[in-house]
Amino acid sequence: MNKENTGQGSATGKIILMGEHSVVYGEPAIAFPFRETAITVNVTPDTDMYLDCLYFSGKLIKAPKHLESIRSVIYQTLKELNHSEALLHIVINSTIPAERGMGSSAATAVAVVRALHDYFGVPCPSENLLPLVNLAEKIAHGNPSGIDAAATSGDQPIYFIKGQALEVFPMNLTNSYLIVADTGIKGQTRAAVSDVARLFEQDKKTAALHISTLGQLTVQAKTAILADDAYRLGQIMTEAQAHLTALTVSNDKLDQLIQAALSANALGAKLTGGGRGGCMIALADSKAAAQTIAAAIKDAGANACWIQSLEVNN
Ligand code: MEV
Repeated sequence: MNKENTGQGSATGKIILMGEHSVVYGEPAIAFPFRETAITVNVTPDTDMYLDCLYFSGKLIKAPKHLESIRSVIYQTLKELNHSEALLHIVINSTIPAERGMGSSAATAVAVVRALHDYFGVPCPSENLLPLVNLAEKIAHGNPSGIDAAATSGDQPIYFIKGQALEVFPMNLTNSYLIVADTGIKGQTRAAVSDVARLFEQDKKTAALHISTLGQLTVQAKTAILADDAYRLGQIMTEAQAHLTALTVSNDKLDQLIQAALSANALGAKLTGGGRGGCMIALADSKAAAQTIAAAIKDAGANACWIQSLEVNN
């Protein structure tokens, strides 16, 4: 136990810029921590195992089924820390909207694992953290690539390929802003990932072509970012959206918000994360343009909008 008899852990939301879904099939993806949204976990001693979060407050053993991934990651972490017998009160506070493609399930697991390690005064390097978070993600999403765990646990943009060492890379686009908008509809990552897998079984040639094209677009997006070419990045994003739509992971509300962004002169727009709801992103070449696009997206029915600079010193 650490000297203060409490443990703290935190994590941020994440945005996938390029490569959702295709990343499950070994193609590259680009993601970054989204600091506008975050999660903190506090651990203190108690007389039983208790969990306190937005959806449940009570004995951990009684937590509802949809919190199974959290319960499992708590028990597994305690087991690995050789403290399975611990009696703790775990409080989760989050501003990451749940089931919106912002990685809230992975971020919760990251913050919980970190807080439990902190409580017992044990360091929590990513070699220990990521396998535990991916275990929770398997329960939550079925077949995670690991990108959500990697993006919510770090503080840098990443170029991610499943099973390979993480590559951090500089996302520094002059005068560029990303608008992130919430459709207000719960995303369906698990269903979308398994429907893409079904498409892959039914018509392997077509699905594989969309997936490999999404991979190539991600490589091109990386080149555009390194060349500080926001215009090209915007085109690539809109092109990626067409392939994601062909893979059936967009939906009407996402399409409406994306269309509203493009009509308001966004450089590009696409869904982000698992899709079928959740969030979309659009790219703008000035703060004023980002504000105009955000207003258009809100008029088209977005629930919430954030604007994030893609310039490092902003
Ligand atoms: C979900 O944020 C991203 C997906 O590619 C699933 C995954 O990579 O685990 C849809």
